[in-house]
Amino acid sequence: MTAAPTSYAPDGSPVEAFARLPAGPAPDLLDGVLPPAATVLDLGCGAGRIAHPLHQQGHRVTAVDQCRDMLDHVDPAIESHQRDIETLDLGRRFDAVLLASFLVNTVDHDQRRQFLATCARHVAPTGAVYLQRLDPELVPIAVDAESEEAGVVYAMRDVHHGDDDRRFEATMRFTIGGLDYAHRYAGEVLDDEALAEALAPHGLRVVRFLDGQRTWVEARP
Ligand SMILES: C[S@@+](CC[C@H](N)C(=O)[O-])C[C@H]1O[C@@H](n2cnc3c(N)ncnc32)[C@H](O)[C@@H]1O
Repeated sequence: MTAAPTSYAPDGSPVEAFARLPAGPAPDLLDGVLPPAATVLDLGCGAGRIAHPLHQQGHRVTAVDQCRDMLDHVDPAIESHQRDIETLDLGRRFDAVLLASFLVNTVDHDQRRQFLATCARHVAPTGAVYLQRLDPELVPIAVDAESEEAGVVYAMRDVHHGDDDRRFEATMRFTIGGLDYAHRYAGEVLDDEALAEALAPHGLRVVRFLDGQRTWVEARP
């Protein structure tokens, strides 16, 4: 296996991997619930994996990431901002605010509070926040594993569970065209109760889940 050349975002995400990974089911899940030509704020957009298909589906996407190298992969036709999510205030509201990639599962509770405050600050009164959370049932029992989809090998290695079974750490490896990318990730699982508790101070409540695993959450003011 060859370690691929790549730069890394401050959160450890390998930039070239996220520029090459397929988008998966998220854009279609989201397109299925968004109003036509929705204004969408994609927080932590990375290389635009979700932003690009939503833009192509006719939504008006604004992409935000703290990593310049990630944003360099985002189509210039998409409005983008190099900012920290925590302090973002664009002074306008959106039909949909996305917080994908398990950012809500940060182990830093203060950071989670700031992420959710930013979501609340940018969602329209009739809009929705879409969060992607770690699977609260599977992650506490996760073990080293490997799977393949659309030519990409996804491997989870060196899994470590915290004492209370809520904290989880693992190295996610992506092998794309023989090139190997690694991302050490730490997260804290949010079950339905913990999620509702995290959202409530921001005036947000869970309305429904978009997928069978209940990882894509729709929350509304
Ligand atoms: C795992 S990548 C996923 C990117 C994209 N959501 C996707 O699904 O392909 C997470 C992204 O969130 C960004 N990010 C993490 N914490 C951030 C923060 N506090 N402010 C802005 N961007 C952040 C990283 O720079 C990285 O590009």
